[in-house]
Amino acid sequence: MFPAVRPRRLRRTPAIRRLVAETRPAPAELVLPMFVREGLTGPRPISSLPGVVQHSRDSLRKAAVEAVQAGIGGLMLFGVPATRDECGSAGTDPDGILNAAIRDVVSEVGDATVVMSDLCLDEFTSHGHCGVLTPDGEVDNDATLRRYADMALAQAEAGAHVLGPSGMMDGQIGVIREALEEAGHTDTAVLAYAVKYASAFYGPFREAVESTLEGDRKSYQQDPANLREALREVALDIAEGADMVMVKPALPYLDVISAVAAEVDVPVAAYQISGEYAMVEAAAANGWIDRERAILEQLTSIRRAGAQIILTYWAVEAAQLLRKGY
Ligand code: PBG
Repeated sequence: MFPAVRPRRLRRTPAIRRLVAETRPAPAELVLPMFVREGLTGPRPISSLPGVVQHSRDSLRKAAVEAVQAGIGGLMLFGVPATRDECGSAGTDPDGILNAAIRDVVSEVGDATVVMSDLCLDEFTSHGHCGVLTPDGEVDNDATLRRYADMALAQAEAGAHVLGPSGMMDGQIGVIREALEEAGHTDTAVLAYAVKYASAFYGPFREAVESTLEGDRKSYQQDPANLREALREVALDIAEGADMVMVKPALPYLDVISAVAAEVDVPVAAYQISGEYAMVEAAAANGWIDRERAILEQLTSIRRAGAQIILTYWAVEAAQLLRKGY
């Protein structure tokens, strides 16, 4: 008798494939990144991220409600200020666009979802770096930590449930945790962008936040060549008090997600970033790939690698597709 073993038996019908599927992303595990731009009166498209917009404060509130109704797990907010300065003061101003938007969204959807905020200075600084600079133009780690502590307090006071420090400064989680504890924000959680690579795939995000950056972030974000360094970053962040850790980007770093998930006992998130999204949208717009299948295949792969939370610009649409039993 040959073949003696026939794996195709379990692939024969949609019903049996559904029965034996090992990985099934769920809407509740998806987090939608959202942009809010100061001074807008309505949503403004982002050309390199078709389907994603810069929101006005009003349109953000409405979109947040829709996202909650779609059953996704959370929202990650990014602010785009109208003016920037050397130290990113709009990031710590309680009335700055991001802090105002956190307040808006929390008052609109409250505890029906998890409201997260990006904690980084790059959207707020005139030079576009994730921290403040020394007189000779280097990103000053320890001076930046003081700004992050203030930003954490502003975001916690605005009501964010989870803070997402994404600047890759050494010691950022410890400093933020300590500032939160001292101010009595003991319930505010920290999702550390523990592993963040200096990636070419952030391109469209730069348009989304109107980035002014010249040069690159290679002196603080990680070299794509390194995996062991990622495990070291994760261990440090957990020791400093991270409640969850994230790997970013997602699809080009599935091995990193897998290694991190094997190592830690906190929830592991992955961020499917702007360039990952844009590639699929562009190919689909040309008729080169099946868009919906490509979206769900990517999410399934990221989930299979070990991320139990996925940040994706497709969160709402993917939730709808998953619900249809796609
Ligand atoms: C930094 C930040 C970036 C992204 C999320 N947080 C940009 C960067 O580090 O250059 C990128 C997200 C994406 O590309 O979708 N505040």
